[in-house]
Amino acid sequence: LRRPLADSFGRRITYLRLSVTDRCDLRCRYCMSEAMTFMPRSELLTIEELGLIADAFVARGVKRIRLTGGEPLVRRGIDDLALHIGRQLGAGNLDELTLTTNATRLAEHAHLLVQAGVSRVNVSLDSLDADRFRLITRTGNLDKVLGGIAAGRAAGLAIKINMVALKGINEDEIEPMIRWCGDEGFDLTLIETMPLGVVDEDRTDRYLPLDGVRERLAERFTLDPIADRTGGPARYLRVRETGTHLGLITPLTNNFCDGCNRVRLTASGRLYMCLGHDDRIDLKAVLRNDGRGAIDAALDSALLSKPERHAFRIAGRGAAPAVDRHMSVTGG
Ligand code: GTP
Ligand code: 5AD
Ligand code: SF4
Repeated sequence: LRRPLADSFGRRITYLRLSVTDRCDLRCRYCMSEAMTFMPRSELLTIEELGLIADAFVARGVKRIRLTGGEPLVRRGIDDLALHIGRQLGAGNLDELTLTTNATRLAEHAHLLVQAGVSRVNVSLDSLDADRFRLITRTGNLDKVLGGIAAGRAAGLAIKINMVALKGINEDEIEPMIRWCGDEGFDLTLIETMPLGVVDEDRTDRYLPLDGVRERLAERFTLDPIADRTGGPARYLRVRETGTHLGLITPLTNNFCDGCNRVRLTASGRLYMCLGHDDRIDLKAVLRNDGRGAIDAALDSALLSKPERHAFRIAGRGAAPAVDRHMSVTGG
């Protein structure tokens, strides 16, 4: 058996985020600028290469793979990739294959995803008001997304909603969102906005610390802390009134890097050690120049550079982002 992947702080790497495209059909204002430039398609790993790299990670003990983007469902061949990786579930080598999606195309893909072995998906949904949803996503149609969510559920997928908490935009919708998710039987995760890439507005204006949100919610709901459920950065609470779970992702108010178990691959084959740093290796070059046999050693040496923690902070008006690549390049 090959050695498990570990970094120099002794953290085991058992989770891979695989960004299959940096493109998206939406332009969420905290994620992208209105005039985004995307990577040329010629830079992309092929679907076969993505599958091969996923296999290489599984062979080194990665137990969870999350497909991300951009929007993963806009990538041609995504169903084939899911089916390929899904075989590792069937073989008992992988515990979970999931994806994070905006759900605009979920209706078209849900059945195939379920067939591939995907049992749950995380859906980004920051507002239940059609006009506000449009304002946040710039191009999005709420009905389409709600239709995608309904189709996903009908196909048998468990749904978790991701809501980025945005001061002055959707903060008054957090409580209604908890109730809606409760009614629908969805878990909900609230996320603090992270300073990745230049977007067209100042993050300071939109930053909503979740420690304060939690205090306010505790006046309305009975929130019972529960043990980690997904191995992700969220800390979970059970909302007694709805019976559903509320996750809080708090990179700014409560750091979670101690328990980091993950690395992330971009659609162009760069492996980033941390969302908040620039340390990376060009795994595409390794694969194309030296062959798949060279991947193992490349991973071991890359992990030596995995930083201890991110250094995100909302640094005040006019501050440059912590890293200049957008979330849509590494998929969060
Ligand atoms: P599960 O816990 O498996 O449901 O997924 P997740 O919450 O890890 O993944 P998801 O794609 O839904 O991401 C939710 C938010 O968590 C996004 O804003 C991600 O950017 C953020 N996130 C995921 N992993 C990390 C991480 O390692 N560091 C930081 N700072 N943020 C992360
Ligand atoms: N900060 C926090 N979350 C973000 N997302 C995208 N950009 C950011 C950001 N700058 C969220 C999306 C999606 C998840 C992968 O990351 O809403 O749910
Ligand atoms: Fe697209 Fe997700 Fe970024 Fe929104 S947050 S623009 S849905 S990649």
